[in-house]
Amino acid sequence: MAATSATTFSAGSTLSYGSKASPLSQSKVFSARCNNLKSFSGLKAVAPIGCDLDSSFSGKNSSAALRASFVSKSQSPSQRASVNPQIQASFKVAVLGAAGGIGQPLSLLIKMSPLVSSLHLYDIANVKGVAADLSHCNTPSQVLDFTGQSELGNALKGVDVVVIPAGVPRKPGMTRDDLFNINASIVKNLVEAVADNCPNAFIHIISNPVNSTVPIAAEVLQQKGVYDPKKLFGVTTLDVVRANTFVAQKKNLRLIDVDVPVIGGHAGITILPILSKTKPSVSFSDEEVQELTVRIQNAGTEVVEAKAGAGSATLSMAYAAARFVESSLRALDGDSDVYECAFVQSELTELPYFASRIKLGKNGVEAVIQSDLQGLTEYEQKALEALKPELKASIEKGIAFAQKQPVAA
Ligand SMILES: NC(=O)c1ccc[n+]([C@@H]2O[C@H](COP(=O)([O-])OP(=O)(O)OC[C@H]3O[C@@H](n4cnc5c(N)ncnc54)[C@H](O)[C@@H]3O)[C@@H](O)[C@H]2O)c1
Repeated sequence: MAATSATTFSAGSTLSYGSKASPLSQSKVFSARCNNLKSFSGLKAVAPIGCDLDSSFSGKNSSAALRASFVSKSQSPSQRASVNPQIQASFKVAVLGAAGGIGQPLSLLIKMSPLVSSLHLYDIANVKGVAADLSHCNTPSQVLDFTGQSELGNALKGVDVVVIPAGVPRKPGMTRDDLFNINASIVKNLVEAVADNCPNAFIHIISNPVNSTVPIAAEVLQQKGVYDPKKLFGVTTLDVVRANTFVAQKKNLRLIDVDVPVIGGHAGITILPILSKTKPSVSFSDEEVQELTVRIQNAGTEVVEAKAGAGSATLSMAYAAARFVESSLRALDGDSDVYECAFVQSELTELPYFASRIKLGKNGVEAVIQSDLQGLTEYEQKALEALKPELKASIEKGIAFAQKQPVAA
């Protein structure tokens, strides 16, 4: 038995993009029927899946186990109970930059999703082998490979979710902003193709600096006349994954129980974990808040330094991005209780883009959750004010870049 602490939002705690978010249900106790899943699903070990599912890495069983592992603890037991191993694969997902350090493990995790019927792998090089390799996994999705600009359009046709990890990663001593000169053009080019070929798709931007590449993508889509702010996301899930892990370690909590909202942006001090809203409720000393906040903000650099020139986070990033893809697919599939943090167009603050918890629905962002910004501690309030100038500058840099070189209509 596992006591869960589902996050509860009051009816007035959302900024609606359309329909109003229904409040999440209160904490309940829910039982794990299959303990052997723990060995496979790791962080999100406890899941309402029947004991006929073992942890073998084959077919629908592993897909369901993986899917269950991504189901956020912040979601209600009824929502988690909706994890269905018989689910029909029906969505097309494209990964742009699929041969890279993130792209490869991310594609593997998406290949395991029971919701995916077709997985399109695109890169400028080396993607044929990745696709051939992945295509041997006996999970439902068909894997297709596309190499180079001439095949980009076909990679995107009919796609429901586009994930973009294309670009260069950091080396020791670099900030995410140092990647701007290369990655800005890559993202601009790829999003132009998305606008031309699958304008209704959910777009997940992983390429850094996310604080600038998301505004670039928005400008490109606007210039193309197809911008839907509900469907453009900067992927900040890794910040949440890290916050959950570090808090659980520090406070000796079960990993599966911990949920920390992370707001702001995705670089240095713009990453702001709201530790006071940690579920389950836990108290931190001032020193612990300082130490955890700084560690979560610098966690990417921790990996960059440990890899010593061989890149930045790839495996944990793939895990986090796959979780965000799975949440998006569940929302597209009609699940009405899906919440994640992401960097999106927002009216939560005076900044035009901001990361916060959002409610996902069939049409993308259904609501931006306000409650995580209410009742902040003095430390969090100060950190929020301190991050705004840097985040504003990064957003403006992205907008200026895209406006300087407008796309062909
Ligand atoms: N959002 C996050 O939390 C987060 C975390 C870690 C890394 N990142 C970012 O993700 C990006 C990728 O990191 P990585 O470690 O996978 O890098 P990588 O160099 O291992 O892989 C990048 C891939 O992109 C491909 N690519 C380059 N230009 C392309 C283009 N125009 N079209 C299609 N593909 C192209 C490359 O061929 C390569 O296969 C980096 O920008 C990195 O900073 C983001």
